[in-house]
Amino acid sequence: MGVGIAHRFAVRGGTAILVDIDLEAATSAVARTERTIHAAAERGKISTQDAEAAIGRLSAVGSVDDLPTGLDLIVEAVIEDLDLKRSILAEAEGRVPQVLASNTSSISIDSLAIGLGRPGSFAGMHFFNPVWAMHLVEVIRGKETSQGTLDAVEAIVAFLGMEQAVINDAAGFATSRLGVLVGIEAIRMVEEGVADPLDIDRAMSLGYRHPMGPLMLGDLVGLDVRLKIADHLASVYGDRFLAPDLLRRMVAEGLLGKKSGRGFYDWSSGSAEPIQKT
Ligand SMILES: NC(=O)c1ccc[n+]([C@@H]2O[C@H](COP(=O)([O-])OP(=O)(O)OC[C@H]3O[C@@H](n4cnc5c(N)ncnc54)[C@H](O)[C@@H]3O)[C@@H](O)[C@H]2O)c1
Repeated sequence: MGVGIAHRFAVRGGTAILVDIDLEAATSAVARTERTIHAAAERGKISTQDAEAAIGRLSAVGSVDDLPTGLDLIVEAVIEDLDLKRSILAEAEGRVPQVLASNTSSISIDSLAIGLGRPGSFAGMHFFNPVWAMHLVEVIRGKETSQGTLDAVEAIVAFLGMEQAVINDAAGFATSRLGVLVGIEAIRMVEEGVADPLDIDRAMSLGYRHPMGPLMLGDLVGLDVRLKIADHLASVYGDRFLAPDLLRRMVAEGLLGKKSGRGFYDWSSGSAEPIQKT
């Protein structure tokens, strides 16, 4: 997600500094961002000249402490882990950005704000994959988020050429709470032999005009990411979010979707192919 967010800022004329666990990982994230920007130029989305200029606005640092102070925005996008996010956010707050945001998909913004010295400057900014093609930022208003912060976020969303939906803080917000429920029910249907992934996805994409079915979406998001969100929502809302055994087994076996080459579809060719039954 960090790569996608950096891509969107850079092509819109912003400067983006990528931070990861160390400088090598951050440098490789910049290289991935460069590749996605070049790919956008090859698809004719931006000119080659604009792509080169955008790439020139990217850089990498190896730790939050190496970021300059007083940035307009820091977006935390580490893995979906409450304690890790809290410690990264505390470090990021020390760099005194105008807005501190989390890209969490499911964790309550108020629970992430515990321990922050300036919770008024903190909000959720939930981006969608792939960020360069998706136009929604789900903005999460915590109990302490100030109006000034919400105004600044609105201006940033407009700068990115995106639209916002503002949601009061509640685990899973609007999109993850609804999306994960459909996603895990679809997995349960595969588990029960109700239909193959392709037919379930076709039912939702053609029957409900979803741009893609819930199983293909899970493969794109990452089944490990889906599982973490479902587990978190089950801990908050109870059994209706319990992850199916099939999802747990697939994650344990490393079948994570597109990023691992296989999930409910075979992605080894780069695009989704139905898995042939043996
Ligand atoms: N995958 C999606 O479609 C999606 C969509 C919206 C939001 N999100 C949310 O975005 C966040 C990231 O998800 P992702 O799919 O990009 O995960 P990912 O595993 O691809 O990326 C997480 C990144 O965090 C880095 N990281 C881990 N520990 C770190 C540390 N201590 N310090 C610095 N960096 C560290 C990892 O090296 C990695 O680059 C999660 O909160 C997720 O819920 C994901």
